[in-house]
Amino acid sequence: MRSIRFQFFSIILTVLLILLVLLNIYPLISSRDLVFQEKESGMVSQAGVVASALSSLDSIGSSGVEEVLRLMDVSGFERIAVADEDGTLVYDSGRGPAPKELQRALDGKTVFRSGFDESAFVSACAVPYLAQDGRLGAVYLSERDQERAALIMTVQGRIRVASIVIAALAVVLVLGFAELLLRRIRELVKSMRIVADGEYDYRMKVKGRDEITELGEEFNLLTERLDETEKQRRRFVSDASHELKTPLASIRLLADSVVQNDNVDMATVREFAADISSEAKRLQRTTEELLDLSRLDDGVHVQSVPVDLKQVALDALVLLRPLAAEKKVYLHLELGEGCVIMANTDDMFHVLFNLTENAIKYNVEGGGVWLRLHRDEENVTLSVADSGIGIPEEDRLNIFSRFYRVDKARSRASGGSGLGLSIVHDAVMAHGGKITVGPNRPQGSVFTVSFPRPGEEETGI
Ligand SMILES: Nc1ncnc2c1ncn2[C@@H]1O[C@H](COP(=O)(O)OP(=O)(O)OP(=O)(O)O)[C@@H](O)[C@H]1O
Ligand SMILES: [Mg+2]
Repeated sequence: MRSIRFQFFSIILTVLLILLVLLNIYPLISSRDLVFQEKESGMVSQAGVVASALSSLDSIGSSGVEEVLRLMDVSGFERIAVADEDGTLVYDSGRGPAPKELQRALDGKTVFRSGFDESAFVSACAVPYLAQDGRLGAVYLSERDQERAALIMTVQGRIRVASIVIAALAVVLVLGFAELLLRRIRELVKSMRIVADGEYDYRMKVKGRDEITELGEEFNLLTERLDETEKQRRRFVSDASHELKTPLASIRLLADSVVQNDNVDMATVREFAADISSEAKRLQRTTEELLDLSRLDDGVHVQSVPVDLKQVALDALVLLRPLAAEKKVYLHLELGEGCVIMANTDDMFHVLFNLTENAIKYNVEGGGVWLRLHRDEENVTLSVADSGIGIPEEDRLNIFSRFYRVDKARSRASGGSGLGLSIVHDAVMAHGGKITVGPNRPQGSVFTVSFPRPGEEETGI
């Protein structure tokens, strides 16, 4: 694994290096070029002046040349040399062989050369001229400029020092910044490991307002959700085992009392067997409901088909009419036509059955249940209202939670496990619907479910 610090460092260092190298080379080269240009124009014109002075001489002889040069101020040059047509030096202020430039000037060209040798700018210029006798000559001037060279070297030295300081500063800053960043990332990774080890209530401390902070906040949100899910799962498992344990214990108790008693009469045995059967029925219903819930939880949807809710309501009522008759609850139906939605028939059956069953079960003798189904442009709406015992406002929020009962003793007596409404809720959600609960006037509750109406092309109607 290549660490972020290394990557960060190498990128910044490369950029810095390129920048510093450019900074060190560019001013030097450009100022040298500038000096060279200036030297060229200056020396060529000076050589021209000397040449024109020399061309006033009758012939190219050393005495005449010396005389002319003495009159002119040429002290600033390092070497002055004059050659005649054959290339023979007639005057030379310096020593050594004749400069090559003279020969090229005798060919009729103006020659300029310049260079920089650590301590000085060295430039030389040679120009041809014609003496009065018509013979060709050439004059050569050379110069060493130490002053300028020293100036440029000083500037370069300063740039170098500044570069080193900048580089050192940048390295320290980059390292510091990378360390700070890394520390926060390490903190994040550490927190993730803690949560991965199962400590779901752990929350990271977040500071600042940058992307890492955002990452930390997202992480905390995720952990919170994980925590919530985990708690829900535990609660569910414990509730479910409790729900299963209670009827099982009753069954055992009833069966044991028959087995351990030698002289039980047939009527008592029948009575106990009936109780056992009813407890078993409750167990069966609870396990069936648990299976339904786990299927809805999986989110594996059976394919949606057009479902006419009126037909589903009528099917559910076939099973519920006996219960309503037994409880002396009157059913009022207002079922509109064409209330078709895209859903799964079984899920919709659960919705209608559970809501209507509750409306009958938690009702009073002589009470009523109103089942209404209608549609408008956008939605298909189902409402189940009753004039029953009602649901206290503080319980309405939790009514769709698993195993939640308003009056534990009462609904357990009526055979409920508190799963019906969670199934209804999950089934409605799974098909894109909404469910709400409110009070009915003057008493009772109303459950309202609405689904978006599918387009004609979907239902084929
Ligand atoms: N129409 C209603 N009127 C009054 N209380 C209701 C009504 N519907 C539901 N409740 C309350 O909400 C609780 C949860 O209902 P839910 O249908 O989820 O469970 P249940 O009827 O007890 O059991 P199950 O439906 O699983 O057999 C019920 O126990 C009851 O207290
Ligand atoms: Mg119920």
